[in-house]
Amino acid sequence: MCGIIGYVGPRPSQDILLAGLSRLEYRGYDSAGIAVIDGDGGLGMRKRAGKLAVLRDDLASTPLADGTTGIGHTRWATHGGPTDANAHPHLADDDKLAVIHNGIIENFAELKSELVGEGVTFRSETDTEVAAAMIGREYARTGDLVSAFRAVVSRLEGAYTLLAMHEDHPGLVVGARRNSPLVIGLGEGENFLGSDVAAFVEHTRKALAIGQDEIVAITPGGVEVTDFSGAPVEVEAFEVTWDASAAEKGGWSSFMAKEVSEEPEAVANTIRGRIHEGRVEIPELDGMDEFLADIDRILVIACGTAAYAGMVGKYALETWTRVPVDVELAHEFRYRDPVLSPRTLVVSISQSGETMDTLMAVKYARSRGAKTLSICNTQGATIPRESDAIVYTHAGPEVAVASTKAFVAQITALYLLALHVGRVRGAIDPVVAVEAVTELEAVPGKIARVLETEQTRIEQLAHWMADTRSVLFLGRNVGYPIALEGALKLKELAYIHAEGFAAGELKHGPIALIEPGQPVFVVVPSPRGSGEMHKKVVSNIEEIRARGARVIAIAEEGDVAVLPAADEVLRIPLAAPMFEPLLAVVPLHIFAMGLAEAKGLDVDQPRNLAKSVTVE
Ligand code: F6R
Repeated sequence: MCGIIGYVGPRPSQDILLAGLSRLEYRGYDSAGIAVIDGDGGLGMRKRAGKLAVLRDDLASTPLADGTTGIGHTRWATHGGPTDANAHPHLADDDKLAVIHNGIIENFAELKSELVGEGVTFRSETDTEVAAAMIGREYARTGDLVSAFRAVVSRLEGAYTLLAMHEDHPGLVVGARRNSPLVIGLGEGENFLGSDVAAFVEHTRKALAIGQDEIVAITPGGVEVTDFSGAPVEVEAFEVTWDASAAEKGGWSSFMAKEVSEEPEAVANTIRGRIHEGRVEIPELDGMDEFLADIDRILVIACGTAAYAGMVGKYALETWTRVPVDVELAHEFRYRDPVLSPRTLVVSISQSGETMDTLMAVKYARSRGAKTLSICNTQGATIPRESDAIVYTHAGPEVAVASTKAFVAQITALYLLALHVGRVRGAIDPVVAVEAVTELEAVPGKIARVLETEQTRIEQLAHWMADTRSVLFLGRNVGYPIALEGALKLKELAYIHAEGFAAGELKHGPIALIEPGQPVFVVVPSPRGSGEMHKKVVSNIEEIRARGARVIAIAEEGDVAVLPAADEVLRIPLAAPMFEPLLAVVPLHIFAMGLAEAKGLDVDQPRNLAKSVTVE
């Protein structure tokens, strides 16, 4: 939530800031702004409500004098609506200081009244302007920006990344972070700060991760990081594993279209290096065998789509490890009194690695003695840094707000984890494990087949359904979380009412929603094996059909039993039941995207949302 960039170096900064902001725009897109210290040492600032394009056009028609030190911000509003005045940067110290912020300063009202009492006037409704005024007040006393930050951060409660620069100090940008992301990009004679590496990956892949409660000062020649008390701290260096082109649209109509097309690779890359001679061995979990052999409970915490991946993962974890698994929404978990012990493994799942609800749940679980393992897609992010172990998904950068390729990568990582832990505990028959590995390795090719054979048809279907006002999704067993995921995607992208249900739950209430013409997607389990669930789901289809529903079945190739019951059948290749979710979700991703596009909506930046939810 909110994207932040800072630059110091020899180059004119405006284009660098705007390019960085365009890569960060998925974090928030209701207003944007930049500030630059120009060649004559004056501070120029421009900010506009609306998407980044509005700011870009404004700067193109009335340019700011450029300079080589700058900060930029793209906003997801918290305090104060998306207006020019509430956009960042905010100025203080007679407009010589510019400040940008991500997060929420929870005690801002009390700090604001203190400042108002001193005669400070405010031009916005934001908490950020309060922080700016406080930094300005401290700076006016000492003339030292870093010590002004130090004095102010100790008074701020909540979560924040703050960046500031002052026209007295061209070539210096200072930042601080608490529970909100900030990374450093190291260039040659130039340095960067960013909410994530996307801010600067075009210029450098060398990065430093800043820890909690630290202050960083960047100049063209150096980087200094201290804790909030001023003591120097060691920072962790890492190399960004993807290049700028991975975060480009590359000829696709949208990032989402590109990312759905990358679902096969996301699975393949997440598997890579973790299977040796048919056995799953996750190198990142070396040295944990003794602990994993002894766990008596696994608790999965996540939000949104990541939580649905967790629900799919539960089936595999329980089947292959024989350890009881609970899946819980991170924001619910922390506010009760959960039973945790040193034998509990808490698995968090987060694409961004910054979701505040998940981060807080991880910290809480750790403070209560549980061991935490992070499944994450973003290097250098906070959640993996706060966890005892990390299993990265390798889906590559996900830019569209709706999570797609990260979802299939998360399920893949959970399956790998289940096979790894099952092996360590001796809970899985080696023959079953080899079969599961073979199935998993076949998934990328099968997803590619769904994209090849079904995409155009699903897009057509979505087009015909552009006026639909409500869609229901049914699934059973591993298909149930897929029904929830299909409904979430449709809500967030197409803004229509959508609900996912466990098919068995129908008769306990939801069937009352069925009226003639009601579209219902049904994820149909395979008829192979015992086929018991298949029969039950086909009966469910008959029941809703009898009440006038329009049924769109997602069923495996060759399943003829669905033909008389369904109006449309979308086909997925044959797979063992545990692996069907990885295939069945693909048509649902395509459908939600297609329907949103048919309605003329922006699929990459749906209204009211942001990709990285860094506030609770
Ligand atoms: C939905 C979606 C969200 C995220 C959720 C968690 O398409 O993208 O529901 O899955 O906000 O985000 P991460 O995985 O970054 O923790």
